[in-house]
Amino acid sequence: MFPDTYQRDEHNRISIGGVPIRQLAEAYGTPLYVLDYATMLHRIHAFQEALNEMTPPGRAFYAGKAFLTTAMAGFLNAHGMGLDVVSGGELYTAIAAGFDMQNIVFHGNVKTAEEIQLALEHNVGYVVVDSLDELHLIDEIAARMSIKAPVLLRLTPGIEAHTHAFIQTGQFDSKFGFSMKDGIHEEAVSVALASSHIDLKGFHAHIGSQIFDEDPFVHNAMRLMEFIQSLWEQRRFWPEVLDIGGGFGVQYTHKDDPPEVPSILARVNQAVQALTPRECEPPVIFIEPGRAIVAEAGVTVYQVNATKTVPGGKNYIAVDGGMGDNIRPALYQAEYMAQVDGKPIDGVALYTLAGRYCESGDILIRDVVLPPVEVGDYVVVFGTGAYNYAMSSNYNRVPKPAVVLVADGHSQLWVKRETYQDLVAQDLPWRDPADLRD
Ligand code: LLP
Repeated sequence: MFPDTYQRDEHNRISIGGVPIRQLAEAYGTPLYVLDYATMLHRIHAFQEALNEMTPPGRAFYAGKAFLTTAMAGFLNAHGMGLDVVSGGELYTAIAAGFDMQNIVFHGNVKTAEEIQLALEHNVGYVVVDSLDELHLIDEIAARMSIKAPVLLRLTPGIEAHTHAFIQTGQFDSKFGFSMKDGIHEEAVSVALASSHIDLKGFHAHIGSQIFDEDPFVHNAMRLMEFIQSLWEQRRFWPEVLDIGGGFGVQYTHKDDPPEVPSILARVNQAVQALTPRECEPPVIFIEPGRAIVAEAGVTVYQVNATKTVPGGKNYIAVDGGMGDNIRPALYQAEYMAQVDGKPIDGVALYTLAGRYCESGDILIRDVVLPPVEVGDYVVVFGTGAYNYAMSSNYNRVPKPAVVLVADGHSQLWVKRETYQDLVAQDLPWRDPADLRD
């Protein structure tokens, strides 16, 4: 499992990026998010190589929602990776990191006027428009700024990829984008083309996340191509960009069988070329992988706080983190694998890995076979790089863990562990409302 991400020595001590887990836990405390530089870089290069095989070469925009910090943005920028942001906060993170703004797509089904203004002032590459109201708002703001806003229209192609219902986005009744069923997408094109402050660069459609089949990606591209063919025939409009979103599945457990990205992109490229009229250039394909770049690069290190066997024989291991640092098992019934540092890889007993939060549903792994576990052991949960830190919370007023990058035997702090002082930093003291009365 994740062979390049971690190593095990003859004493079963687990290392990641050449740094022993125990050393990281002792230096930075637990729970601890650890990200492996080599794995992320390897994934980025794999996407870039596959995109360079396309004609014209495609472009990748990492989906910041999976995991974004200032250091992450700096790292992506240094490796020529674009960025997909979905909020003023993600945008601000990119700005703070000195990110190349032309290499940004700005997404989201709700963008406030302030967020749009911020994006346009900083010259983001593309704003992905989600509704007619938003299109009018962008038009208004761009007119006030006397500029032409570069936009993509987000379409909902009616493709249902087999994934958890909460992370499906491409079906017709989705809250995202312009449905391709009722003609609203054609109206959006008319509005965009009629405006002198909108520069319609192309179209976007994202079908979902953690997808293992290749076909939905290809069908999505084909559906978009059929639409732009009709635009060409009817209006002589041909886009520069076709953004097929993210969603490339990753391996969390042995059950998962991730797709071959180069094969998907080759098939998408082929379909796009085949459906491009002779007199037009194939549009540039954009992709927005998030999970596929960071999920498997990350592990979370916990320390065992207690073990207990309850009536009925269930063995619990209680660790010092849980749903505050990883909400995915509670929210999506997501499954993970774990190992114990310094103990044999082969398990002997079935455990339930429980979190520290005050909810029965705070279970990180329902059934995991592990060697005998003792208080003080370090448990490593694999594949936690995506949508863990990003979705973390301060539930139960537990400070968020630190995030550390490991590379070539060294570690580097990316996000400091929160302190109790951080937890109360935005709070104001109690004042008797009676004192507010005159
Ligand atoms: N582009 C768009 C427009 C998206 O909506 C998403 C994910 C992505 C790209 C990136 O998808 P990825 O390559 O990471 O699968 N919190 C959920 C995942 C929600 C994904 C939402 N959109 C989870 O923890 O599984």
